[in-house]
Order: sequence, then structure tokens, then C-alpha cells
Amino acid sequence: MPKNTPRYLVCVAWPYASGDRHLGHVAGAYLPPDIFARYQRLRGHDVLMVSGSDTHGTPVMLRAQEEGVTPQEIVARYHGRFVESFRQLGLSFDLFTHTDTQNHWDTTHELFLNHLNNGYIYKDKQLQPYCLIDQQFLADRYIEGTCPICGYPHARGDQCDNCGNTLDPIELIHPHCKICGQSEIEFRETEHFFFDLGKASPALAAWLNEDKEHWRPHVINYARQQAESGELRGRAVTRDIDWGVNVPVPGYEDKVIYVWYDAVIGYLSATREAVALDGDPEAWKDWWFDEHVRSYYFIGKDNIPFHAIFWPAMLIADGRGMNLPYDVPANAYLNIEDKKISTSRRWTIDLPDFLSRYDPDPLRYALTINAPETRDVNFTWEEFVRRNNDELVATWGNLVNRTLGFAYKRFDKQVPQPGEFDDLDRALLKQSEEAFARVGAEIDAVRLKIALSKAMELAHAANRYLNEKAPWTQIKTDPQAAATTIYVTLQVIDRLKIILHPFLPFTTQQLHRFMGYEDDLFGELVIEEVEDARGVHKVLRYDGSGVKARWEPATLPPGQSLQKPQVLYKKLDESVVEEERARLMARLALSE
Ligand code: MF3
Ligand code: ZN
Repeated sequence: MPKNTPRYLVCVAWPYASGDRHLGHVAGAYLPPDIFARYQRLRGHDVLMVSGSDTHGTPVMLRAQEEGVTPQEIVARYHGRFVESFRQLGLSFDLFTHTDTQNHWDTTHELFLNHLNNGYIYKDKQLQPYCLIDQQFLADRYIEGTCPICGYPHARGDQCDNCGNTLDPIELIHPHCKICGQSEIEFRETEHFFFDLGKASPALAAWLNEDKEHWRPHVINYARQQAESGELRGRAVTRDIDWGVNVPVPGYEDKVIYVWYDAVIGYLSATREAVALDGDPEAWKDWWFDEHVRSYYFIGKDNIPFHAIFWPAMLIADGRGMNLPYDVPANAYLNIEDKKISTSRRWTIDLPDFLSRYDPDPLRYALTINAPETRDVNFTWEEFVRRNNDELVATWGNLVNRTLGFAYKRFDKQVPQPGEFDDLDRALLKQSEEAFARVGAEIDAVRLKIALSKAMELAHAANRYLNEKAPWTQIKTDPQAAATTIYVTLQVIDRLKIILHPFLPFTTQQLHRFMGYEDDLFGELVIEEVEDARGVHKVLRYDGSGVKARWEPATLPPGQSLQKPQVLYKKLDESVVEEERARLMARLALSE
């Protein structure tokens, strides 16, 4: 590959290992990077897609406390479930690891000490909420109250889920303790390390004011406003809890590093782990110092402050000149049946649960064709069933079935030899050639919803063409004309197979087989166990060796033998809608 070809570091939000991922997370943060990464690999570009479980912080601790088990048990359970369900959904992580690894701790210490030495981390005293009943400091999610900015009554000590702003516990109105539920809270002085966002803000503002035309307006506007507000100042990056990365400075044995500080470092540490597993531990530098690498951070909108402000500031403060984010394509939220998802009220559809009853590609389709890219969107079972039946089955699946079925039966299980093309043939073939650039440009710009609808336009056009040509009639009077029609349609299907692959990886691979190919469009997703000084952790890894670039209009060879096609997408019965709504209502009732 020429040296100036862009390479893609695809960074994916690190899920707290404290509960299953739901469809909102999948639509917001997990599926988009996979589509983007698969597409870039099909272009022949170098991709490294990394993430892992966020094992620290109060979310995991609170969960462990609720269940009366250790945080380690909670981490092992949910990390295991992430790895399984992400593999099932086909998320092609080059590495999905977690943050309780030696490599991650070492990398966190390294950045912490760089920040300290460069004067970006300083010690200070701070007032922290202290629960008089439980006799302990209440970090982050251990305290809740009303948001001073938007008035949301369940804002947490570190962030408001409603308006997305980061908070200090002292700003909360009517705070209460999450352990005992009481409001016997006093603010006591405690010493912590602080990261100096103010010191980083001139460099941050300068960077944010460089060309960011490709950024989503809501992300860049928020970041610029923050960097220029003059209000960025020190944020405590240690906590008075006992679960997290230790502070690499003597005298701080009873404190740990703040979960967000270590979590974002995961992008760097996971890069190191990924290249080390491939046997070249120094290769992480190629991903973090080379200016031709574009790093994309796929996150939900509640994570914007940490990726557009905090993490870039940490990279600046590190001083080694590592790449700042190229883009932070944050998504809005997905509601379910017109209501905001709520895990506490069980108004949610969890990924493992969904995948226990339905195939992955229809979900990938439904969440992308209605992606929350610019505004909150709504998932309803009715729409899921309709999109599955009317779009996947009726438009794309049916095009494939009737064309392959016809070729298989009437043209001796082979791609027929076409005759001369007429205007209609040529127009559809041209449209299929152009689709690569049309759809590709949208994926490059991370506009996946429009990319998928442009791909589907081609499937519609192929259906119209087929209906107009009616090869089932042609074959009676003019078999050569029927052969041409079927050839042209197969050719377009063969191209759509590639174009749709990033969105629908499983069924396009099946189709690839039906069309008589023996190789794979894509590599394997494997789960392995890795051992280091902190223990054994599971990793999910994409093995793409031997997979080649294909994002271009190839020519389907006449005479290629076909396999007997099978149904790619199952029609769902209308009863699914009522069944699934009842399931949601039953869970809601249980939680109340
Ligand atoms: N654990 C956080 C969440 O689930 C996301 C962390 S993203 C990272 O909301 F960048 F910090 F890792
Ligand atoms: Zn708020």
C-alpha cells in the first residue's frame, strides 16, 4: 500500500462490564464502527478496530454490591457476555479486551506519570460527599440528585444522563446516597490528583478550530463551545474507592484512578495489546504517531465530553505528539416503542436476548436504515417486522431468490452467457458500477443510514428491471434474451453482495456461496484466552488473513456454476409484534 494511503484506527466506546448491552448501545456505538471497518477493509485499507470492557468505576461496584458478589465476578460475567454477543452480531473487532489487564494498567500509569511530569496533573484538596450513615466517601454514581443544568431528578455525581453534561457532586441539588438511600451527606475535604483541563484548553481550542468540516455539527459545536468557554479547569482523576487502577505515586494506596481517565486510555492500550498479540509490540506507534492514520471514535452522545474534550486534552498533555481524533461521529439515542430506554425500569431490549430469538442481519439492517445519526429515533417491533418482511425479504431477498432460482433451474445451474446488451441492460449495469462510489462516499463520511438506503435503491432498480424484462416470459420466445436478463441481474446481485456486505455480513457470505464462490468475503471472529500478570482475560479477535479487497465492480464470469439457493431472510409472522410488546410490558411490570 502506498505510504500516504489513509489507515483507519476504529475506536469503539468501552462498555461498562455491569450489564448487558441493549439495542440503543448497538445502534449508537457498536454497529456503526463495524460497518465502517468492514467497508474500509473491503477497500483494501488498513484497519485496526479496538475496544474492550470498561471494568472499573462505580457502575461495576454498585452492581456487585446489589448482588452481593465481587466486582471481579461481575466483570467476568458481563465481559463474557459482551464477547459472545458481539461475535454473534458479527462485530469485527481486531481486538476486544478489557481494562483489568497488566498492559492497560501499565499504559495508564505511563500516561499518568507523563501528565504529572508535564505539569498537567497536580494535587489539591477537594470537598467530596461523605455519607454519615455508611461512613464513606461517595464517588460518582454513589450519589444522585437533581441536575443543576436541566433539572433532571436522577442526575449522578459525575454526569447527567438527560442533558449529557459532566457534573461535580457538589453541584447536585438534593443529593442522596445510593447505598443507604438517605440524605445524611456532608462534604468533607479529601486530597486528590487533578487533571488540568484549563492548561490544555488553548491547544484544544486551536485544534478544534482547525478544519472539522467532516464532524457532525452537534459534536463540534459542543466541543468548541467548551474549549472557548474559559470554564475548563481541573477535574479530579483519583477517587476514594478501592476498585480501579492504582495511583502510581507513593502515599496514595487507598485511592484509585478515576474510571474515565483510565477508560479512554483503553484505545491506546488495546492498540498495544492487539499488535503485541500479532507479534510486533512496537507497531502501536504506527497507529498513534503516523499522520496518515485517521482515528474515528464511535460513541453515543452521552460520551461526547470525554472524547471531544477530555481524551484529546490527555493526548495533548502527554506531550509525545500522538494523533488527536480525526472524527468523533457520536450518535443520538434510540427509544423503544416511543419510550426512552431505561435499564432500571427494564424498558430495554438486551442484545443477547434479541439474538436468542432473531438473526443478526435483520437487526443490523433495521438499526442502520433508521440510525440515530442526527436525532433520536424510535425502535418499534412493528417497524422491525415490516422492514424485515417488506424490505429485506421482499426487496432484496426476493430479488436474489427469484434470479438465482431461475438461473439454477433454467440455465443448467450456471451463470448464463449473455447476448448483446440493450439500453435497459446497460443502464442497470452502469448504475451498479456507480453504486460503489455512491455508497462508499457515504460510508466514508459515516452517513451509514443514507449509504444503506442508496444500496437498497439499486436492489429496487434491479427488481423493476426484472419485472420489465420478465425473463419467465422471454424464455418461451427468446431464450437468449432471457439469458441476457438473468446474466445482468446476477451481475448486479453479485455487486450488491459486496456493497451490502458491511451491513449484512452473514447473509452476503451465504449468497457468495450460492453464487458459486468458494472463498470468504470476510475472516473469522475468534474468542481466545490471554494470560498476563493480572490473570486470564477473554479476547474477541478478528482474523482477516487471506481476505482480499473487493470494493469495485467486478465482472461475473459466464459459465460459473451456481449452488442451489436457500432463503436468506425469513419472513416474520405479524404475531411477533404483540408477543414482543407483551414481553416488554411484563418486564416493566416486574420492575415496578
Ligand atoms: N464505559 C462507558 C459507558 O459505558 C464508556 C466508556 S468509553 C471510553 O458509557 F472511551 F471511555 F472507554
Ligand atoms: Zn442535566
